[in-house]
Amino acid sequence: MEHCTVLILAAGQGTRMRSSLPKVLHPLAGRPLLGHILTTVRQLHPTRLIVVIGHQADRVQAAFDDADIFWVYQAEQLGTAHAVRCAMPELTDQQGELLILSGDTPLIELQLLQALLLLHRQENNGVTVVSMTQERPTGYGRIVRDGQGQLQRIVEEKDASCEERLITEVNSGVYCVSLRGLFGWLEQISAENAQREYYLPDLLALAVREGCAGVLHHADALSLAGVNDRQQLSILERALRDKLVADWQRRGVTFTDPASCWLASDVVIGPDSIIEPNVILGGATIIGEACHIGPFCEIQHSQIGDACHIKGFCHLEEAILDGKNEVGPYARLRPGTVLAEGARVGNFCELKKAHIGENSKINHLAYIGDTTMGRGVNVGAGTITCNYDGQKKHQTIIEDGVFIGSDSQLVAPVRIGEQAVIGAGTTVTKEVPAGALAVSRVTQTHIANWHKRKN
Ligand code: UD1
Ligand code: CA
Repeated sequence: MEHCTVLILAAGQGTRMRSSLPKVLHPLAGRPLLGHILTTVRQLHPTRLIVVIGHQADRVQAAFDDADIFWVYQAEQLGTAHAVRCAMPELTDQQGELLILSGDTPLIELQLLQALLLLHRQENNGVTVVSMTQERPTGYGRIVRDGQGQLQRIVEEKDASCEERLITEVNSGVYCVSLRGLFGWLEQISAENAQREYYLPDLLALAVREGCAGVLHHADALSLAGVNDRQQLSILERALRDKLVADWQRRGVTFTDPASCWLASDVVIGPDSIIEPNVILGGATIIGEACHIGPFCEIQHSQIGDACHIKGFCHLEEAILDGKNEVGPYARLRPGTVLAEGARVGNFCELKKAHIGENSKINHLAYIGDTTMGRGVNVGAGTITCNYDGQKKHQTIIEDGVFIGSDSQLVAPVRIGEQAVIGAGTTVTKEVPAGALAVSRVTQTHIANWHKRKN
């Protein structure tokens, strides 16, 4: 298909969100609203991708520092037609069609945009609008047709008569416009309406007058739904979640209770993995093949290798698991945790900036931070790396095959040589040579007949 120019309107404040964050930056399945649309339209390979910004423009622009976007600044938000007019300097050297989308319609699909372009060209239209049916059309512009069903115009809700408000065919805010007519039509749009704004939907009536208007009715209203308030945002969050889950189910992932799991758009899950109820997978998390994620786990920005078992109630953030790892229940892996193949972390353990070697085990109640640990290490219950002296963080190095007895403290910086053994209850403050036994406990003594003496 021939290329087209794409224009996305994203200058509005999003008043109805009642937020200090610009509307198009609100996350949906972990990605800003505008990010969803950009991902979709890029697949059309537009000759130019233009985004109109205004309200908190710097913040919106900074969130997408992609070189392919032409940013246009609309200083005052005088309406959607005015926003398009602001983009004219970027449009005068473009030819063919312009696709206009709203930054707040995140679930728009590539196939629809392709169908819109096709219809527009086949019918030789000047303006083609995508419409949908909304049983509760509140907030949308209504498509007004005459008695014969012929297109007339779009009327905004605030300007509509009581009768017009009953119309359920509404404007989706997605348009295809022939660039050769656009400039002339924009000049004819006035702000004489209830909101004193320049309405882009007025394009339709102008094209109707010239006999070159068309409408593409799209049955999937959800994919065209706009986000104006937080309720609509949550409806789309759920809808997108259902879609993402269904996509992964098709690719061989089991969700025992799909309705209770939440996935970000960028998550990837390998086949034969099982996701138990109430799991949250966020960021660009990657789950390998044949993994088992237990109930109530939250995993953010992490890479989980094949055949890992993460038992219930674990929290992982920026962690890397190489594969065949067992974690939890109730484990917390903080940023910088790396588990080599076969390493195990059990209940009530916290790890941070810790590289754990192959087949090492930290099974109960431990804190391991700023640590490099070799292979086959056994860390006893209650072991703590004392990595912070109140001012600085220090490293702990634990070499291959070390055995650390329960309730030991390793005061960093410190190194424990290969195959060394730390006796239970030891406070290690200096380097332990390879193969040595370190014990710092006071020798146990007995005072006989203590019980009798007390009475
Ligand atoms: C708009 C349409 C309505 C349609 C609905 C579909 C108008 C006048 N109305 O209404 O017919 O049914 O979308 O979702 O167009 N924007 C700017 N600059 C401005 C004003 C808006 O860039 O001066 C941007 C906003 O950031 C937003 C988009 O345009 O991304 C749509 O604006 P919004 O205020 O949400 O319009 P709606 O009331 O939803
Ligand atoms: Ca809107």
